[in-house]
Amino acid sequence: MNQEKFDVVIIGSGPGGYVCAIRCAQLGFKTAIIEKNPTLGGTCLNIGCIPSKALLDSTEKFYQIRHSFKEHGIIVSDVKVDLSQMMKRKEQVVKELTDGVRFLMNKNKIEVLHGVGSIHSHSEEQIQILVQNEQPQVLTTKNCIIATGSTSILPKDIGIPVDVDGEHILISDHALSLKEIPESMLVIGGGVIGLELGSVWNRLGTKVTIVEILPDILLGLDSKMRQVAKNAFTKQGMRFLLNHKLKEIIIKNNRVISKIETPTNEIIEIETEKVLFAIGRKPYTEGLNLEAFGIEKNERGRIKVNQHYETNRKGIFAIGDVIEGPMLAHKAEEEGIAVANYIANKYSHVNYDLCPYVIYTWPEIAWVGKNEDQLTQEGKEFLVGTFLFRANGRAKGMGETEGQVKIVADKKTDKILGVSIIGPYASELLGEAVIAMEFGASSEDLGRSFHSHPNLIEVIKEAALDVQKEAIHK
Ligand code: NAI
Repeated sequence: MNQEKFDVVIIGSGPGGYVCAIRCAQLGFKTAIIEKNPTLGGTCLNIGCIPSKALLDSTEKFYQIRHSFKEHGIIVSDVKVDLSQMMKRKEQVVKELTDGVRFLMNKNKIEVLHGVGSIHSHSEEQIQILVQNEQPQVLTTKNCIIATGSTSILPKDIGIPVDVDGEHILISDHALSLKEIPESMLVIGGGVIGLELGSVWNRLGTKVTIVEILPDILLGLDSKMRQVAKNAFTKQGMRFLLNHKLKEIIIKNNRVISKIETPTNEIIEIETEKVLFAIGRKPYTEGLNLEAFGIEKNERGRIKVNQHYETNRKGIFAIGDVIEGPMLAHKAEEEGIAVANYIANKYSHVNYDLCPYVIYTWPEIAWVGKNEDQLTQEGKEFLVGTFLFRANGRAKGMGETEGQVKIVADKKTDKILGVSIIGPYASELLGEAVIAMEFGASSEDLGRSFHSHPNLIEVIKEAALDVQKEAIHK
């Protein structure tokens, strides 16, 4: 076995791990990253954020040709989907980005090792990491960062004894790579994946029904904004069964029969070609050998860390989906930077209160900070400003008038407490709100700032002005 000495060894090359590796290299640390898969980038780049966005963009174009081109005076006949080309393009996007991560590793002189990384020994002075592959290797390091991410929660985890066969019963990995457009799909879970992948297939003609165990979807939004989003999805043909619970699944004659309990305790049967499970993700810590070193996890299986992301073992840190908090790539990235800075004795801080949330449906949904319902529950005094995309010139020109912006601000100080957006490119527009809030802006600050015309971003300005009921075009 070879012995090599590093300052930092990172296990897992998703957005948390690889960004952390780059920051470590920038700070002058001799850095290695271990990845069990042949490609770098983790779930996000390979089977998550990136391929799903590629398909969301392709399918949205198809949907627009069928539903809005005519209004623009463009007549397209004989529109067809070449699913294999759509998937090829998606794979090419993934390839270019994962190759890009490898390029960045080389550029920053980060040693990349493929294999399963596990903790081999630990002392106050040094940690040994075993890389298991055809030629096992032991790396000696001062610091180890676990960034192994998460995997899908499976049907058996919620008491449904059915195999995820990729044919009838799917998780997101499969729903990103289907070879044919299914006639029907039941999606279990009305969260981010359910809505995004439900949208992909719905746009291509699949009859999509979403089953959600909770009384509503999108609980990060207030009830009025949730209704705006649900109306948009329902108009697109998606069906929602809220407060419904999956009880049993039977596969018969190439069809899936799902038995579902309604809010009035009746059992209904829904027959579909596919069932997609999108019921959340669980931390992935397999093979790390954490137990042998007494590294503590919480009751949800997430690795416990202190405010500097250090576990109960000195020099062993954890970031991203394996620790508490939202399972989001940008959250993992910020933690990756913060932990590298901490190891270098530099200032590091992640402002979780301003973590943005985005759902890449169409219209897009994005929010940051608190919503109206949360503030009411907290007994805070606040003012609300809203503005509809319908009243914005650019949105009208684009024919993208669905949705609105809502801003909540402290009644006394006018400090912005939260912004939610449903509308075209909400994911991009939210950036202004995050930065404004990070700098402690008031709604007046936002309302008095230049916003180029005609632009979608004027909707944010108008919503800010509307906090004091001074919106111009309302
Ligand atoms: P999620 O936590 O967003 O949603 C899961 C949904 O399933 C919840 O609404 C939950 O109430 C429901 N559910 C759970 N058990 C159920 C049951 N037995 N029957 C019916 N409904 C049930 O999880 P999701 O969508 O699987 O995504 C996993 C993770 O990936 C999330 O943490 C998400 O933030 C992240 N992600 C983020 C994206 C983005 O930022 N755009 C895109 C895709 C995933």
